[in-house]
Amino acid sequence: MTPSELYLDAAATTPPLPSVIECINAVQREAWGNPSSLHGTGLVAAEQLARSRQTIAAQLSADEDELIFTSGATESVHLALQGVAAGCPPGRLVISAVEHPAVEGAAGQLAQLGWTVARWPVDGSGRIRLELLDQLLAPPTQLVSLIWGQSEVGTVQPIPLVASACRERGIPFHTDATQLIPQGLMDWSTSCIDLLSFSSHKLQGPRGIGVLLHRQGVLAQPLLTGGGQEGGYRAGTEAVALIAGLAVALQQLPRFNPHQSMAPPGSTPQIRSMRDRLQSKLEAIPSLTVINATEEPRLPHHLACLIADRAGHPLAGRRLVQQLSRLGVACSSGSACRSGHAQDSAVLTAMNVAPSWRQSLLRFSLGPWLNDDDLDAVPPLLIRAIDACT
Ligand SMILES: Cc1ncc(COP(=O)(O)O)c(C=O)c1O
Repeated sequence: MTPSELYLDAAATTPPLPSVIECINAVQREAWGNPSSLHGTGLVAAEQLARSRQTIAAQLSADEDELIFTSGATESVHLALQGVAAGCPPGRLVISAVEHPAVEGAAGQLAQLGWTVARWPVDGSGRIRLELLDQLLAPPTQLVSLIWGQSEVGTVQPIPLVASACRERGIPFHTDATQLIPQGLMDWSTSCIDLLSFSSHKLQGPRGIGVLLHRQGVLAQPLLTGGGQEGGYRAGTEAVALIAGLAVALQQLPRFNPHQSMAPPGSTPQIRSMRDRLQSKLEAIPSLTVINATEEPRLPHHLACLIADRAGHPLAGRRLVQQLSRLGVACSSGSACRSGHAQDSAVLTAMNVAPSWRQSLLRFSLGPWLNDDDLDAVPPLLIRAIDACT
């Protein structure tokens, strides 16, 4: 975040908290050893790692041996899908039609191993069509992976319902919770989810560390082999300082009971009202349509819109992002992982948005570093950006 830039791209990444940076620096200084070493220097690192693991497990109501530290959500997703697939003959993998490229990529690798990949269709709000549940969970489905909070359009999927339907049928269920966990920590011990991926850099923790939560016996094989760290599920010397930073960041997050409310509460109590205030101001711009404006559940920090010029012609979201950046606002035209090249959004395509609008998405995603005054500056700047792109 440059000092002069308003940072509204939390779904891409978030600024590490000062307490996280302090903790990482302290651990790098004082517990820099290899936690597998048997000498005193190694033991200091091993103790630090054990403390962080305990804190993180407690935050998620998980057992410590249900946590695997990875390099980020992309690796967690690959370990989840490939780790399950290694334990059974190729069958059918069900994913939603609105997954992040990390899941699409992992599914593509299973397809090369002979798996069939079925995409669960979604409605116009990006939510999976529940009337297809029995059909999609019937044999030969052997693995299901669904995104919990959609990164481009903010839709929250009915994960507890699908997870328990999978449990009843004995089908391992993975969720990509990368966008959801930063908005609320769920209780892993009472959920029917078998595998859950998330990433530290989306919740004001450090970059380069992620988590896969797993039930014992679900993973048949690790992705990375070698030193036997992480219970044999992920070889490689543990990133002790990054894990400690993640533990600090997680402690700031509120709790979330998905059985009481399908939408997580938000990283702070104010985040939803800041989003709603920004939304109501943006809705006054005639050439702008908020996606899922009245839809619930929706990620509470997330606001996606489709934008046209004053004559009503769809504008390229990428151009608007660049123009807004010149005006001091950082936002995104969709998933950061897709932003390298202009192409129709697969998510908008799955939601049956008209083809001419599929490159016109603009995403604002908020964090606790913003306030109402910051957000009130955005609509006039957006109008300037729209005019500059016309
Ligand atoms: C929903 C979702 N899944 C996975 C990822 C990948 O996360 P990471 O960058 O930690 O690999 C992201 C990041 O944009 C995401 O939003």
